[in-house]
Amino acid sequence: MKPKIQITKGDSTKIEVDAIVNAANSSLLGGGGVDGVIHKVGGKQILEECILIRNRQGGCKTGNAVYTTAGNLPSKYIIHTVGPIWNGDVEKCTQALSNCYKNSLALAESLGAKSISFPNISTGVYRFPKELAAKIALEITTQWESSTLEKIIFVCFDDENEQIYQKLINQNS
Ligand code: APR
Repeated sequence: MKPKIQITKGDSTKIEVDAIVNAANSSLLGGGGVDGVIHKVGGKQILEECILIRNRQGGCKTGNAVYTTAGNLPSKYIIHTVGPIWNGDVEKCTQALSNCYKNSLALAESLGAKSISFPNISTGVYRFPKELAAKIALEITTQWESSTLEKIIFVCFDDENEQIYQKLINQNS
């Protein structure tokens, strides 16, 4: 089935889904932006599990995804994915960002998640152009066939991203 896609303006730490996706960095040790608030609100359990992953496999490479439990957050899992830092190389950055969405969706499915939320990965500190990032995110997710996922929620923290996603969704409907 094709999961239902929703756009919402808000804060990832307040959206109740089975898996909340975090825009992490390769160290998995937290940071600012949505990463910072997920660790802050979710609590130290999340960082402890991230450190276990680091000890096992090093950090997380750009485009890849790992998971932890969700601590105090309203979900079963946090999926930590590392977006590309925008450097102007459209092809490479597009490929890496696409992998973030694909690997996060595949990991959520392997966990049996029925619902997942994404922040606008790489469009903050990593400076990925918002319109291109939204096109990539929607291209992957609208074509995704799933045996378990019923709902994909894009959580837009700023008005610009929300307007971009709504415009693109309306264009495709
Ligand atoms: N809920 C949802 N989205 C949020 C929240 C939140 N609470 N806070 C910020 N955002 C949005 C930003 O507005 C942006 O649109 O998340 C999107 C991604 O921005 P960042 O969090 O800065 O992530 P990214 O651009 O992928 O950069 C990752 O930033 O925070 C550090 O540790 C992180 O080094 C990593 C880098």
